[in-house]
Order: sequence, then structure tokens, then C-alpha cells
Amino acid sequence: MEKKKFYIETFGCAMNVHDSEKVAGALIGMGYEATQSIEEAGLVLVNTCSIREKASEKVFSRLGALKKAFPGKKVGVLGCVAQQEGARFFQRAPNVHLVVGSASYNNIPHLIRELESGKNRVIDIHQDDEHCFETEVTQRVNPYRAYLTIIEGCDNVCSFCVVPHTRGPERSRPSDQVIAEVRRLVDEGYTEVQLLGQNVNSYRDPLAKYSFAQLLGTVAEVEGIRRVRFATSNPQNFVREIVDAINSHPALCNAVHLPVQSGSTSVLRRMRREYTREEYQRKVEYIKQSPRGIALSADVIVGFPGETDTEFEETLSLLETVGYQQLYSFIYSPRPNTESLAMIDDVSAEEKSRRLAFLQNRQRELQIERAKSMVGKVVEVLVDGFSVKDPNTLAGRTSTNYVVNFSGPRVLLGRYVKVRVMKSGANSLVGESIDPLFQGNTFSSPMIQTHPEGVELGGPHGN
Ligand code: SAH
Ligand code: F3S
Repeated sequence: MEKKKFYIETFGCAMNVHDSEKVAGALIGMGYEATQSIEEAGLVLVNTCSIREKASEKVFSRLGALKKAFPGKKVGVLGCVAQQEGARFFQRAPNVHLVVGSASYNNIPHLIRELESGKNRVIDIHQDDEHCFETEVTQRVNPYRAYLTIIEGCDNVCSFCVVPHTRGPERSRPSDQVIAEVRRLVDEGYTEVQLLGQNVNSYRDPLAKYSFAQLLGTVAEVEGIRRVRFATSNPQNFVREIVDAINSHPALCNAVHLPVQSGSTSVLRRMRREYTREEYQRKVEYIKQSPRGIALSADVIVGFPGETDTEFEETLSLLETVGYQQLYSFIYSPRPNTESLAMIDDVSAEEKSRRLAFLQNRQRELQIERAKSMVGKVVEVLVDGFSVKDPNTLAGRTSTNYVVNFSGPRVLLGRYVKVRVMKSGANSLVGESIDPLFQGNTFSSPMIQTHPEGVELGGPHGN
């Protein structure tokens, strides 16, 4: 008998990407087969993001496009917009037959069975506030870096943020399960894992065995693991022990994503962030003292309600003092159910765009300056795909998360290679393999056995 096929597409952050990998695993466990072709699929799933209005709107235009191109196809909506809009999808998008919120995935097999048994509209947006989403099978799309959720949800109340409403309260996975999964990943051939959570460093081991920093150290010591990343760290819970763990475990990548949101203490207060500019800066100072040269990245929001010129300038000056290797910047987007929705937003749309462009421009200059210091250095990269500009050029990442493009044979995919940085740009570096055996392209060699191609999953938020 031919297997039932599903197609799944994902919007949003790394956690969404990984949720899709687990949903795919759950379906495969039920006898389904994944397909890359919508045409072939009996069930089309769209995993959605509602962090900003634009992301949320994309979902409806995508559903409209699916309906037009594939009329009669059964569509399921998953994720944060599913959680937020619930049954309204059935009215707004009649091709939708399944709605599953981002904190209800444990129920997926049951919901799919209901759909199979002929039920026309299946919905679950209750929030499982006790369990993380676990599956026997996980269909990972990136063959080199494995995502692994260690904590779901968020207990904070940042006034701009929809996440606590869509993903529910924090719940952490027991450390023994996390470590067992890391061991399984090594058996599958992975050497790099990325531990995920909306506030990954709020991790609280239900077994009370490890702190977050201790868990990082333990994962880093699992035999076969060469790189451990973690995202996203909330500054308020970012303790010195995390830096100390990076200092004493070479497998812990020397890269910290620490979203500041604003450089102004008064804006941070209105955002209900639990730290001041000065407290944030003190944490950064400690990170910078690390002998490993830890690279910092962050997210910022411009044009938060009431943001004055002076407050905006404080964000700009923070970028100068910290020196981020990478920055993800967004215009404030009012979201449903959030506290800031009721605040007077007196910054015009034009002014917000001007501020964002100004900030991005300045950050670009800072990145270009910073990257220049890399030229001439020899760095180790994990080769995980191809240059976005040239599919014949390999791309790898340093431990600090710099992308280095260089020429070499495909056989290097999935391997750790030493390259000398020859040129630098705002977002990536150009290098040369220092191993004479692996210089230049030998893409056509039939002797070379290749791994499946790497999939680029974007930055910490993938959007
Ligand atoms: N837990 C993380 C943030 C996760 S949300 C932290 O504590 O920082 C991912 C990013 O989306 C945030 O860092 C923020 O910069 C951005 N974001 C969230 N809500 C937003 C909104 N309403 N408007 C614009 N950007 C937003
Ligand atoms: Fe959002 Fe703040 Fe939590 S940004 S994810 S409410 S820490």
C-alpha cells in the first residue's frame, strides 16, 4: 500500500524549525512519508510565526496562495499563529482542516487520527503547561547541526512580546533525557548540537541535578561532541558560570546571543526587561574578559512606544561600546494581548524606519571594521553548505559563528577544516583551505562520496 504523504513548511525561529522536525517525526512514526512536493502531499502543514505583525500576515497570504495553487488540498496550521487565531482559521481560510497551537504538539498523533477518520475540522490550542514536546523519531533537516529543545515557553512578561501567550509557561526537559538525546545524536553522526529555548538559560532541571551552566559543560563533554551552541539567552538570567563553563570546555562555542532590545534603561523599564543598561554592560564586560574571545550578538527593537531621540541614541551608543559581531534589529510591532499595545505610540512610522536604517547602517560599518581584524587568521570551520552567492563555493562556520566561504571539494561537507581568512565583509569572510590536498574545487570528481547537502537555517531566529 502506498504511504500517505505530508509536506511541511516553516516560518520563524529555530524553535519552530525544530518543532517541525519533531512533528515530521511524529507523522513518520504514524506511517506517513515526508515529501518535498506539495502536489504529491495529502496533507500540507504550515508552521507559523507571530512574533511581528508582518510574520503573522504572511501566514494568511501563504494560505491564500496554497488554496489558489492547490484547491482541495487539506491544510493544517501549526505554531504561534495557530495558537493565537484558533478556530478563526476555519472561517478565514476554508482550506484549513487542522489547527494545532505551539504548546499542544504532544497531541499531534491523536489529532491526525481524528482527521484521518473523516473529521472535517480538528483543533487543539490548549496549552500543555507541564510537558515539553517529545517524539520517538525526529526528522532533522540539517545534517550537521542538530537542534535540541531543552526548555519551552516563557515566564517573563516583556511588554512587547507575544511569546508567553503563544508558547505558554516555562517547562524544562530533565537533564538525563537531554544527555541521552545528545548521545543518540552522536551515534547518528552529529558533532554539533544547538540547545534551544525561548530563554534557554532559564533552564531548570526537573531532576535538580544540573544548573544550566553545568548542563552546558556536561553536554560539551559527551564523547563525539565537538561544538555546542545555545540560544536564546535572556540577559537577566545570564550568570557568570555560563562564561566560566565556556572558558573550561573547548567544545562550548565562544559565541553568546544576548538580546538587549534597547540601550536605554528607561525604555528597558517600559519594556519590562529586568535589567538596566549598566547591568547589561557589566555582564558584557565579564564575557569580554574571557580568554576565549567570546563573540556577542543581540536583537534590538527600535521605535518602542514613546522612544525619544535621546533613548534611541543610547541604543546606538551601546552598539559602539559592545561591538556586536552580529545584530538582528526590528521595528517595534504591536502584538495582540501584550501590555505595550495600550501604550501611546507617538513615534511616526517614518521616524521608526529612519531610526532602523540609521542603526543598521552604523552596525554594518562596525561589523566591517570588526571583521577586518580576522584577515590573516587561521580559523577552524565546520563546513555546512555553500556560499549564498556561489553554489560552487563551500561555506563553513567558525565557533564564534562567522561564515567563511572558501573553495574546496564537496567531500569537506560535514568536516572541520582549517582555513586562512583572506578577505572580510560585513556578513561573511572569504578564506582559503590551508591543507594543500583540499585547495580549489574538485566538484566533478566521481570518486568523492558526498553527504546530503546542508540546509541554511538563518540566524538565531531564522527570519
Ligand atoms: N527571549 C528572548 C527573545 C525572544 S523573541 C529575549 O529575552 O530576548 C525574538 C526577538 O524578536 C526578540 O529578541 C525581539 O528583538 C523581537 N521581538 C519580539 N517581539 C517583538 C515585537 N513586538 N516587535 C518587534 N520585535 C519583536
Ligand atoms: Fe518574549 Fe521577553 Fe520571553 S522577549 S520570549 S517575553 S523573555
